[in-house]
Amino acid sequence: MDVVVPPDPDPAPPDGADENAAARKAWRDSAAAGEPLTGKALGDRFKRSEWWGRNRIKEARRELQAEQETGDDVAGETDQQDARVPVGAGVELEEERRRRASSRGGPLTRVNVNTAGHNLPMWIICTRGAAAGRRVDVFTSADMLTLTCAQVNAHLACELFPQRRRAREKGTVPTRCAAPGRRRRCSCRIADSAATAADAAATDPQTLTVDTLSPAHAVSPTLYGLFFEEINHAGVGGMYAELIRNRAFMESATAPAWWAIVQDRGGSATASLDGEQALNAVLTRSLRLRVNSVESGQRVGIANGGYFGLPVVPGRTYQASFFAKASNGFTGPLTVSIEDAGGRRVHSTARVSGLTSTWQRFTATLRVPPGGKPSTNNRFVIGIDQQGGKPSEVAPGTSVWLQVVSLFPPTYNDEPNGLRPDMVEKLKALNPRFLRFPGGNYVQGLYDPSDPWGTRFDWKKSIGPIWTRPGHYNASWSYWSDDGLGLYEYLRLAEDLDATPVIGVFAGFSIDRQRIGNGREIVPEADLGPYVEDALDLIEYVIGPVTSPWRARRAADGHPEPFATPLIEIGNEDNARGGSSSYNAYRYARFHDAIKAAYPQITTIATTAVTSRPMEVLDEHLYSSPTSLAVQAHRYDTYDRNGPNIFVGEYAARRGNSQDISTGPLGYSLGEAAFMTGLERNSDIVTMASYAPLFSFVGQTQWGFNMIGFDPLTSYGGASYYVQQMFARNVGDQVLPVTSDGTGLFCSSTIQTATGEVHTKIVNTGNSPQSVRLDFAGSRASTARVQVLSDPGPEASNTLADPTRVIPRIVDLRGSDGQFSYQVPANSLSVVTIRR
Ligand code: AHR
Repeated sequence: MDVVVPPDPDPAPPDGADENAAARKAWRDSAAAGEPLTGKALGDRFKRSEWWGRNRIKEARRELQAEQETGDDVAGETDQQDARVPVGAGVELEEERRRRASSRGGPLTRVNVNTAGHNLPMWIICTRGAAAGRRVDVFTSADMLTLTCAQVNAHLACELFPQRRRAREKGTVPTRCAAPGRRRRCSCRIADSAATAADAAATDPQTLTVDTLSPAHAVSPTLYGLFFEEINHAGVGGMYAELIRNRAFMESATAPAWWAIVQDRGGSATASLDGEQALNAVLTRSLRLRVNSVESGQRVGIANGGYFGLPVVPGRTYQASFFAKASNGFTGPLTVSIEDAGGRRVHSTARVSGLTSTWQRFTATLRVPPGGKPSTNNRFVIGIDQQGGKPSEVAPGTSVWLQVVSLFPPTYNDEPNGLRPDMVEKLKALNPRFLRFPGGNYVQGLYDPSDPWGTRFDWKKSIGPIWTRPGHYNASWSYWSDDGLGLYEYLRLAEDLDATPVIGVFAGFSIDRQRIGNGREIVPEADLGPYVEDALDLIEYVIGPVTSPWRARRAADGHPEPFATPLIEIGNEDNARGGSSSYNAYRYARFHDAIKAAYPQITTIATTAVTSRPMEVLDEHLYSSPTSLAVQAHRYDTYDRNGPNIFVGEYAARRGNSQDISTGPLGYSLGEAAFMTGLERNSDIVTMASYAPLFSFVGQTQWGFNMIGFDPLTSYGGASYYVQQMFARNVGDQVLPVTSDGTGLFCSSTIQTATGEVHTKIVNTGNSPQSVRLDFAGSRASTARVQVLSDPGPEASNTLADPTRVIPRIVDLRGSDGQFSYQVPANSLSVVTIRR
């Protein structure tokens, strides 16, 4: 079963069904002719990407496989008919099949799954063989299940299809699947919810045995960390607290984007970019405000509405700053104000004087009085009026030039150029052991023929005073970054979180959306040197000795002491779009050799497998449906223990093109939780893991789903946030073996050796509760505390309006001699904690 669905930044259009079918056919024809097309060749033929082609091949293979299975033994089944039934996937069935096959001989049954989007309960009752009569829960979230087996009875809830709901209402439950897209035979008996509930209740509790005395291996102390990427306005307009959008007027060369002219009560002025009046060599233009006329009682100025709103919270103090110079001996004053978007209500205002014909930096403190409600429909205005001076002082033609116009609310720990406290605190509460930054695709940038690697993250342009940072277009995610959140700020964040920095460096490979396929997005070997130097300089900046020049820059930026020794990730997803061979041949090799020679203490991370050099850590990314991700709970069970350590640098359950949805439903998060039990159980080899992406500005999202949603005023954790928190905050230092005599649950357990605290995670991805007997072998505990994240429906999710719909609650259990009965709720993650 293909479960790893690599992200495709160029997804198929919604009307691509015919095209997909044509591509599948093309591949099947080519395979039948003995010359199967590659993903790239198929993509090229349909003018699509290699990933697209590969995905069509996977589908075509599944089709073929399913057709072969249709011919399987179906003897004895009388209600045979095709069914392509939207339900969850048979994760547990797979497990059960394997388990039964090995323990009792003979396969249980066959169910294949395909992925897509419904959230429906499903049980499969095995009707034959050793497992006959057993109920097997099937993961029930958001995917298309293709039943291929005629040896099961499927109990599908009646709300699956309207006709079934109607049938239930009428009391006549159909006995045959009537699903659309019939393609293969399947014998199903449809039962209504009551019947399936009865089935559920009838099953015996399973026993989960946790061996508290025989740890399997140590838990990686760095297992749970964070991946921050500048995507979905996670940084600019998000965690980076700057409120002014396009503060340095560098976003557009033709107009002062996001700025508006203010001409109150008949005042007249123009605002334009002025390339003749640059602040410095980096900020190569400024904004010129030219007064045409401003009489008493009038005002002219420029206004900025922030990133999709400018948040104002009563009682807060805001720090404004800007560079200004003026013509004609105009010295001011300028009025600086935070006001509502229409300019009717001024929240706070200040005056700034002393302008000259040379650039100076001005600051103003704006206190918004307490009382009233927080709001976002506001703007920041720098204006000129006559109240502070004589009319002649603002003669027509007077000009004021402005640069780096900045407004900060209170920041985390009052750090200058700092971060939003609510968002940093949410990260802190995840107890992260590392912080990977600044991306992802953001590190790489998009290939552009005029400047092939010009939109990569160039760390050297992201340090120093903010007026020395030009900013750059975040081409990967289509918005401007002022780079106020630069290398220094990322390192300070890691420090505040007490997390090891994991820094992604550009490794000579950008993203080519046009997929020309000639490798033009790859830096040729002869040109790679400067990028390797950049990486070495970066390391010097982070940990360099007192004598080094980049260390001096770090000290000037405010941190004389070295930062914590980082891990260096060489590139990002270098297997994509044909990057592997150059990565193996020279890109990874050059970076690896140079870093190791200069800094042997630094651990490097490869983004795809290489043979040319040793791999210390390999970063794997897994995005897929919740079902498929849950299957991956077993991915690392069989990984070579002599190979590199694994960093699961990005993973999440996704639903197709859900770009506009900030945080996902519980069912998705439970797919992640199931997967995480496998990470924890295999944390001898999986040494680091981080969910992705982290933040999403609600309504301004390029990627769904994400862990934390926010708007200009508040932030909230999605269900995935609480899954992450429950895992990361309840982990010991040794993994304990867990065995079960049943199926349907995903489990892992760890013990904190010093305290004897045992944390056992149990994930139920099904829509029915499961009774378990918990047996903590070697323990006499009689009390257990359970943190439970659950909801009767897997679609339940948190939102800005309802941020606590899905949050953990506490249940206390009483038992004896380390044994407890526990009803594992439907759709749930439970963390059971005892003291051995
Ligand atoms: O997390 C979003 C993107 O997914 C990352 O930028 C990239 O590494 C991956 O493809």
